[in-house]
Amino acid sequence: MDATRHSFPSGMRVKAKSVAVISGAVAFAVLAGFTAERLSVSGGALPSMTLEAAQVGEGQRLFDHETFGGNGRTCRTCHSSDNGTINPEEVAKRLAVNPSDPLFLHDGLDDFVAGTSRIAAHATILIERELPEGVVLVDNPSATSVVVARGVPSTVNTPALDPALMYDMRHSDLQDQASAAITRHAQPTVSPTAEQLDAIAEFQRTTKGFFSSRALRSFALGGPSPNLPEGHTASERRGREFFVDSPWNPPSKKGVCALCHSGPMLNTSNEFTTDPTGAPPGGERSTSR
Ligand code: HEC
Ligand code: HEC
Repeated sequence: MDATRHSFPSGMRVKAKSVAVISGAVAFAVLAGFTAERLSVSGGALPSMTLEAAQVGEGQRLFDHETFGGNGRTCRTCHSSDNGTINPEEVAKRLAVNPSDPLFLHDGLDDFVAGTSRIAAHATILIERELPEGVVLVDNPSATSVVVARGVPSTVNTPALDPALMYDMRHSDLQDQASAAITRHAQPTVSPTAEQLDAIAEFQRTTKGFFSSRALRSFALGGPSPNLPEGHTASERRGREFFVDSPWNPPSKKGVCALCHSGPMLNTSNEFTTDPTGAPPGGERSTSR
């Protein structure tokens, strides 16, 4: 799929219905507020554009090169290719070229200690999550956390447009996310400062390479919400029907995907979704209850 032409975000993700309401524009307004405040405090005589450019430059340096005195990893270690993720082919290549690549350490290994078979096959990273209160593992009742293997989400579009970050939405802003990523993945000996976290966030929020289309970049900067592309070929136009916001009315396919893939990022449910799980009305789940 040609992401630029269709402006379908490659980081598209469906999240809980209730988080769908915070728009990118609101997130931007909040971030812009922070920026303005910071500039007025630290701006001095420098024009604000220069200051912002310097901050983005510093953000790029931190994202690409800063290890915080840790195991040698940077953000770029995992969000490496143009689409800000890694796939098994890239992992295999890196393993062949340099088995001491910092990707192959710590949570990249099969059990945090040794082994590269999982990352080579699936390009996943081990993530430890504490169990919610009241949840007990039957085979290990004293466990307070579980370890899951997760793929690396793309840093294209989502960081700038989606305030609900991570697969479990555990971070709601880029600073908090970056701080946790450094602690979790980089085994740092030096903590990032608030200014450094702001710079990393600003870099992801404003840099061209973090967007799949001009429309989404402009949207992230407070511009209008992009429209659903019209489609060029007959087949694209038929496919478009699935994403049009409309009540589901089988056997018509119109709006089938839009029940869960609506909004500017195609990652929120639409007004016609009635089931809390987002299941289509009249679908098996709804009727069986
Ligand atoms: C060891 C590999 C690794 C490193 C290093 C790493 N990340 Fe990630 N990143 C991941 C994984 C895996 C996830 C998803 C984890 C989850 O949801 O539990 C993720 C998630 C994210 C997300 C959320 C994207 C979304 O769609 O919700 C952002 C943004 C991000 N990382 C930015 C960063 C930044 C900034 C740094 C450096 C400070 C960094 N990452 C370092 C592997 C990595
Ligand atoms: C009942 C809700 C629902 C409907 C209806 C639905 N999806 Fe999804 N879709 C999801 C969920 C949930 C995910 C997984 C999100 C995740 O794992 O982060 C997903 C993921 C996807 C992804 C992967 C996105 C990514 O970034 O990896 C694609 C592509 C997709 N859906 C396309 C479709 C298409 C095409 C249709 C219609 C034929 C459709 N979906 C209908 C809920 C739905």
